Amino acid sequence: MTQTATAIEALKKQLGSSLCIAGHHYQHDAVIRHCDITGDSLELARRVAAIDAQHIVFCGVHFMAESAALLARAGQQVHLPAEDAHCVMAQMTPASLVRAVLMRLHTAGKKIVPLAYVNTPVAVKAVVGEFGGAVCTSANATAMLRWAFEQGDSVLFLPDANLGRNTARALGLNEAACMTLNIRKQGEAFPLAEALQKQLLLWPGCCAVHAKIHAEHIAALRLAHPQAHIVVHPECAPDVVAAADGAGSTTYLINAVRQAPQGSTIAVGTECSLVDRLRREYAQQCTVLPVRRIQCSDMAKCTEEKLLATLQQVQNNTAPCITVPKAQQQSAKVALERMLDVCARAGE
Ligand code: 13P
Ligand code: SF4
Repeated sequence: MTQTATAIEALKKQLGSSLCIAGHHYQHDAVIRHCDITGDSLELARRVAAIDAQHIVFCGVHFMAESAALLARAGQQVHLPAEDAHCVMAQMTPASLVRAVLMRLHTAGKKIVPLAYVNTPVAVKAVVGEFGGAVCTSANATAMLRWAFEQGDSVLFLPDANLGRNTARALGLNEAACMTLNIRKQGEAFPLAEALQKQLLLWPGCCAVHAKIHAEHIAALRLAHPQAHIVVHPECAPDVVAAADGAGSTTYLINAVRQAPQGSTIAVGTECSLVDRLRREYAQQCTVLPVRRIQCSDMAKCTEEKLLATLQQVQNNTAPCITVPKAQQQSAKVALERMLDVCARAGE
């Protein structure tokens, strides 16, 4: 164990049940090994709601810590070891622009239901809650999109156009029923009449990691490893998903490796900290390959050293807390809890 790791474990002991360290699967092994709970975005949102500890140290990116702060109970504090870890995709949706687009879409009297991927700032979740919408994650996007269609005339999915399109295809919606919005000119640039004819409107956002996986990478893998089973995250483009053997959330990808037959080869198209960990953990069972080795530079900002520094601040009562502005709390919580309720009812 490194000196840093030893110091972290000693502090964890001292802080005892007042501390819970949560980590997303895309964190480095050096951080993951100290986490009390790990999960994908959905699992973490669910589990945070049940944590009793006074201090929740969230190893991930800003929107995840914000969601935790939103679901935390009175008196609980959420700390993010790397405060500059901002998901690039979440930054593609300024709340004022989302509001402007929704206001314009609503001028014709139709009800357009916003469905926001959890990878959004809390200010956007608040706007979505106000307009009768909900949050979703990659693990429940299908159930949530079905729910959103039932709530109004059409749906605005944001920010990940790939996840929106892949989920729409899984529900049998054809391309003609979808439209990616031009959000320039403060939301005035897209043709309103055409947009109002569509069932699904997509925000033009994407993930800096998954958008770099292309169909050519799958084709190259098929040539080099013809027996490989290939699975990818649905933040990848639709042609990548179509070329793969399966697509699903981070948990789906982990389960695909877990269930891979003895001696088989499986290629996983997602963030490489997770793929590298799976390769090591399942080395006796199967060969795990990355479809393309790409690291999320924001997830990587949370290091073992920063985790230690945060725990020291927690001990001294000087750790900065992630807070949610009062004005956004209620509507954002409504949007997040709608997701948790729909999933609980659907048994997702
Ligand atoms: P999930 O954890 O929902 O699979 O999302 C992946 C991701 O990109 C998180 O930032
Ligand atoms: Fe954001 Fe993509 Fe990084 Fe996840 S992997 S935090 S979606 S940029």
